[in-house]
Amino acid sequence: MTGARAAFDATPPTPVWQRASAPASTIGSWLPEGPLGEALAAGLADVETALTASVDSPHAFVREAAAHLMAAGGKRFRPLLTLLAAQLGDADAPEVIRSAVVCELTHLATLYHDDVMDEAAVRRGAPSANTRWTNSVAILTGDFLFARASDLLADLGPEAVRVQARTFERLVTGQIRETVGPVPGDDPVDHYLEVLADKTGSLVATAARFGASFAGVDAALVESLTAFGEEVGVAFQLSDDLLDIVSEGDASGKLPGTDLREGVATLPVLFVLAGDDPAEDRLRELVAAPLTDDAEHAEALALLRASASLERAAQVLRDYADRARARLGEIPAGDVRDALSALCDYVVTRTS
Ligand code: IPE
Ligand code: IPE
Ligand code: MG
Ligand code: MG
Repeated sequence: MTGARAAFDATPPTPVWQRASAPASTIGSWLPEGPLGEALAAGLADVETALTASVDSPHAFVREAAAHLMAAGGKRFRPLLTLLAAQLGDADAPEVIRSAVVCELTHLATLYHDDVMDEAAVRRGAPSANTRWTNSVAILTGDFLFARASDLLADLGPEAVRVQARTFERLVTGQIRETVGPVPGDDPVDHYLEVLADKTGSLVATAARFGASFAGVDAALVESLTAFGEEVGVAFQLSDDLLDIVSEGDASGKLPGTDLREGVATLPVLFVLAGDDPAEDRLRELVAAPLTDDAEHAEALALLRASASLERAAQVLRDYADRARARLGEIPAGDVRDALSALCDYVVTRTS
């Protein structure tokens, strides 16, 4: 009994809810400068304060588990997009921060669940919740964060609740379809791109929609920003999948090579499998199944990094970023549009 309990007793040296200053976004140099950058930084600080309150609980262990990934860092990409879209209207509307927090809490919760699904050991440079505690703790803590997101949503009204419900339906549908893989008749690349749109594009689109609509931006512009979010979200996930292959170190805060180890066939692997280039014969043989053998895993990663299939997938990423940028024609010229355009460059060039 004592042994079983001990797994739930760990306490970090400085719990996040006692920290004087909240961690900043780790998104790095993309953040714009000048008044827009200052407005985004101020908004992000408000988001951190609200997030910190949202992961609190009177029960010490629940609080520790819920604060674990929030405290570990993260880019805050979705709240940033909410705040940026809101800059096209009344960015000070209180619903803007609240809806940004809803998006980050939803994202956070899916990370707890995703790391169970992907058996990932590291997240945001910290042990994943499933590794630090157990799968059950990770799943239930994710559920706790969804509950807290729902609590905030209730104050945003029934339309926001519906938007979030449909977003979440798409997100989990994407996760399920990724797990099941393409069914007979599905084109594997089309299946993969649909999974990306559902599991990632959906929430990034909603982050933009919430920011614009709660700031009172006109309806046509809300739709343009939502479409932009969807496409930049797919590009963001595509670059995440490429980084899983090309990252050498721990810059992403995750363990590179996880997709190959788990047998999650991302775009470069799909191109290898569908191709007949003799130069990729050995690679094709290796990636046909999950790579649990360390030597074969390392060999496959090295071959993939140098492959034509990786370059082909990088071109698809650039195409998505260009399509996202093309949506910006409907956004009024100015620093917000410039920042959104810079976001399209960021998703292509980011290294973490
Ligand atoms: C990770 O999301 C999962 C994906 C959808 C690619 P992020 O890359 O936004 O993760 P954090 O929030 O910065 O940790
Ligand atoms: C992240 O998916 C979870 C969702 C998008 C819901 P991945 O498994 O592709 O992302 P990482 O690499 O673990 O962050
Ligand atoms: Mg996953
Ligand atoms: Mg994962």
